[in-house]
Amino acid sequence: MTMTTVLAIETSCDETAVAIVNNRQVCSSIIASQIPIHQQYGGVVPEVASREHLETINWAIAQALEQSQMNWSQIDAIAATCAPGLVGALLVGLTAAKTLAMIQQKPFLGVHHLEGHIYATYLSEPSLDPPFLSLLVSGGHTSLIYVKDCGIYETLGETRDDAAGEAFDKIARLLKLGYPGGPIIDKLAQTGDPQAFALPEGKVSLPGGGYHRYDSSFSGLKTAVLRLVQQLEKNNAQIPYSDVAASFQETVARSLTKRAIACALDYGLKTIAVGGGVAANSGLRKHLQAAATQHHLRVLFPPLKFCTDNAAMIACAAADHLSRGHTSPLTLGVESRLSLTQVMKLYQAG
Ligand code: KG4
Ligand code: ZN
Repeated sequence: MTMTTVLAIETSCDETAVAIVNNRQVCSSIIASQIPIHQQYGGVVPEVASREHLETINWAIAQALEQSQMNWSQIDAIAATCAPGLVGALLVGLTAAKTLAMIQQKPFLGVHHLEGHIYATYLSEPSLDPPFLSLLVSGGHTSLIYVKDCGIYETLGETRDDAAGEAFDKIARLLKLGYPGGPIIDKLAQTGDPQAFALPEGKVSLPGGGYHRYDSSFSGLKTAVLRLVQQLEKNNAQIPYSDVAASFQETVARSLTKRAIACALDYGLKTIAVGGGVAANSGLRKHLQAAATQHHLRVLFPPLKFCTDNAAMIACAAADHLSRGHTSPLTLGVESRLSLTQVMKLYQAG
């Protein structure tokens, strides 16, 4: 394999991230989180995110170079997330990357954010190769993806409404616990009884009857928790926060585990690679690990720093594309939505 070193920028949501990666090895990774800024609004404010990216990006690029102790002559290409995400936020990173590519006269690559999340697994498991099943569970996505090769993906399952992380965030808001909700609920759940309340696992009906085996739905679960809290309040009962958190988390973990295992078995895939912020969830880790062991499947959870948004995963994906001769035109724009099946649209063969 040729050695390929890529500097990548990720600004699709609320982290300004820059990293330098040599194939699957991280040379440096800078993540400037905006979470404390958005916390006061209870969620990400797009205009605020763009402005923060703009103010932080040059510092983050300089830091990534310094931490790697590299100079521009050692960098083979420059990449940035170009889709999907917040348009104004994406534009900051993409414009910075294109400008650098022009100044430094290096190839440029746009990267699909979800392809980056899939590549995060390679950073902690460099020997992994397709095919495998990727379970992507973040604030914006809940997807089961059949990873066939670099740039070749088939989405087998999705959420029909809220993403898994979004459900955690909404439940935390409902319980007035703060933002982002995932880590707060996870911590509370440690001391709660997961069987305290029976909550409905959302199912997606099929037109001819029965249920979709891989798709999920979390809006019904959210409503059930709301009703439960309203009922408890009406009865003047003290809300047992940790029991509610544990029961909710248990339901999400069971639902995701069931779908991921069914999918892996149906398609004969031996490895499930989990990615996205919700991959940090202790309930999901426990359930999925136990079920995978039972079915003789391997499940990989990258460390948290590669699960949540980072630029190392973007650089890793770009390095693989570059090694296959793929580059993007400097006219490439950002897109708020782009299917994973459209990834190859971003590249021209070199
Ligand atoms: O991948 P990520 O950093 O950003 C997106 O691309 O969305 O994921 C962020 C999401 C948030 O919804 C957050 O609440 C959730 O991941 N999250 C968790 C945990 N840590 C972060 N959800 C459940 N349990 C956790 N421990
Ligand atoms: Zn993400």
